[in-house]
Amino acid sequence: MPPEDVVITDEADKLRQVRAELLAGLTAQAAFISPKYLYDELGSRLFDAICLLPEYYLTRKENEIFATHMAEISACLGRDVCLIEPGAGNCSKAARMFASLQPKQFVAIDISAQYLHAALQPLRMAYSEVEIIGLGMDMAEQLDLPPEVLRKRRVFFYPGSSIGNYTPEQALQWLGRLRAACDSDGGLLIGVDLVKEKAILDAAYDDALGVTAAFNLNLLNHTAQILQADFKLADWQHKAFFNTQQSRIEMHLQARHAVQVNWPDGGRHFAAGETIHTENSYKYTVGDFSALLRDAGFAPQQVWQDKDRWFALFYARAV
Ligand code: AVI
Repeated sequence: MPPEDVVITDEADKLRQVRAELLAGLTAQAAFISPKYLYDELGSRLFDAICLLPEYYLTRKENEIFATHMAEISACLGRDVCLIEPGAGNCSKAARMFASLQPKQFVAIDISAQYLHAALQPLRMAYSEVEIIGLGMDMAEQLDLPPEVLRKRRVFFYPGSSIGNYTPEQALQWLGRLRAACDSDGGLLIGVDLVKEKAILDAAYDDALGVTAAFNLNLLNHTAQILQADFKLADWQHKAFFNTQQSRIEMHLQARHAVQVNWPDGGRHFAAGETIHTENSYKYTVGDFSALLRDAGFAPQQVWQDKDRWFALFYARAV
């Protein structure tokens, strides 16, 4: 790994923490598993497939916004920014802005340093004028950026409505941490999925091909592998629906019949119909999300939307 990539992880303690977190969720009265465990190698590929589904409009709508408004977005952010993308993955969303935005530095942060390193190689070749840094770190725990990251004009980039996977309280906390990590010349470019007709939302998270069901069920394989638990996929079914009152999609795995799951030193009985809550995906109005940004210390400057107004891209300045 070249010196420009920095790895900040403590592998020794990690597995113990992960196991403890999974067991706490599985043995809670209302069982849950954090959605971050959806993304093992297969889960990440299934998510990429979800983004191609006709029902999952989020990616297409956000792409439409970038394709239509790229020049305006770049002008709004200004020249020579230090563009920082937490959870960058393959970095393709940030990379498509490089030509128009011409950032001074691009900082990609992801829990998988190896994956990031591979993704950044072609970008370094194609955009030699942009200083590109990869940071392998778990941002859920910290956002202490190393001194290599420029302090001036930090703009955080958080696309794809990933913010929706936090509760509004957690989202406020996370946005507050981004705010604390930049000075008053900083900003935030963030993609947010909007509230819409329930049938459209339900279909986006329960597609006809069953890809989202596979994505959700794969969480049990991943969990089983970490905990050495004996989950059998055939015992479980995918459930996803828009909870209008809470303004969120809920994903669950529901026991098809009474199920006993065992792991070393323990286990749990699930009654028929009982569920494991696996993900929330909150949907906002433009007004509600603007208020959240303000509460976190950002001033919304501009909102771009697709032609159906299903998705929004906000630029907010640090205040
Ligand atoms: C990553 N995140 C924004 C997706 C979402 O829409 O909440 C995860 C996802 N879950 C099911 N389909 C997609």
